[in-house]
Amino acid sequence: MNEQNLYHPVQIGSTSVAGNLFLAPLAGYTDIPFRSLCIEAGADFTYTEMVSAEGLAREGEKTLVLMDRAPNEDQYAIQLFMGNTDSLKAAIEQLRPYQPQVIDINCGCPVPKVTKTGAGSAMMKNPKLITEVVRILTDLTDIPVTVKFRTGWDAQNENFLAFAQAALDGGASALTLHARTRTQGYAPFADWSKITELKRYCIEHHYSVPVFGSGDLFHAEDAKRMLEQTGIDGVMFARGAIGNPFIFSQAKAILAGNVPQPVTIAMRKHAIFRHLDLMIDTYGEKTACTLMRKHTCSYLKGIPNTATVKQAVVQALSREQYEEALSQLVDL
Ligand SMILES: Cc1cc2nc3c(=O)[nH]c(=O)nc-3n(C[C@H](O)[C@H](O)[C@H](O)COP(=O)(O)O)c2cc1C
Repeated sequence: MNEQNLYHPVQIGSTSVAGNLFLAPLAGYTDIPFRSLCIEAGADFTYTEMVSAEGLAREGEKTLVLMDRAPNEDQYAIQLFMGNTDSLKAAIEQLRPYQPQVIDINCGCPVPKVTKTGAGSAMMKNPKLITEVVRILTDLTDIPVTVKFRTGWDAQNENFLAFAQAALDGGASALTLHARTRTQGYAPFADWSKITELKRYCIEHHYSVPVFGSGDLFHAEDAKRMLEQTGIDGVMFARGAIGNPFIFSQAKAILAGNVPQPVTIAMRKHAIFRHLDLMIDTYGEKTACTLMRKHTCSYLKGIPNTATVKQAVVQALSREQYEEALSQLVDL
């Protein structure tokens, strides 16, 4: 495949997406401000943080808020998690007014609080359940349903091909593989050969659904490497986008055969304030300043001698204090 072909539109069921560089769902990170910022930076498609189907069915206010769409988010996916089918009907009624372009099912979360209910990566132990969930959702709505999963529960149970087949049996419109087992958590290294295997499986079995890849996409050039190595249809930046939304435009430049623009300290500072302002719009100034701490530390990662700046940032409770804290940061 030549470089021009690696960046292209993708079709997810009835949803056409202009490009194939996605922002992955990241609980605790991919809220409205961060998704907005990544779209401004070039993300082609975005996912909400994972939303509990049961929480939706209970009409929990905190759960409903997770489904709000960012003002510049023309298209987005709402990601749901569930350990059974009990709440699905009620959940879909709560979700319907939000009109997402895709509903994604989380089958990868390794957190015990989630897996002990049979949800997240525990779904991989029960492929029949994913068939049922996807089938119910596709029966209840016209919104394409997609599934994001891992290679298996552990090294002894790497059942991602059988699991993919189960999702396809239910009518899934796309598959995303995070190339690690549940036991591996987020440790290095994701095994991209499993992503290649999944794409091959879909081709051999004449499934035209797109396959997306996730795992260890920390640099813009990783997108090109994954697309080239695996032959998949698109990639999802996850931790690589935290503190580094520039990864999207850089990856686009690389896929177009150009040299990406290096990220300067001035660019990082500008992104911090843009992010903070989007946070203030969503949460109000004080909460925004608190929530921005972890993001700001990520933006500053790799810049030498930022200990004092970070110290000032974690104490800042207003935009003015943020400005003061970051004024110590000089462009090199
Ligand atoms: C803090 C954090 C939160 C995450 N939340 C979700 C989530 O809500 N839904 C999901 O499908 N995956 C979630 N993931 C997994 C990521 O989407 C991605 O698949 C994983 O981080 C691997 O990509 P990476 O190695 O490039 O970071 C999360 C990962 C992290 C680190």
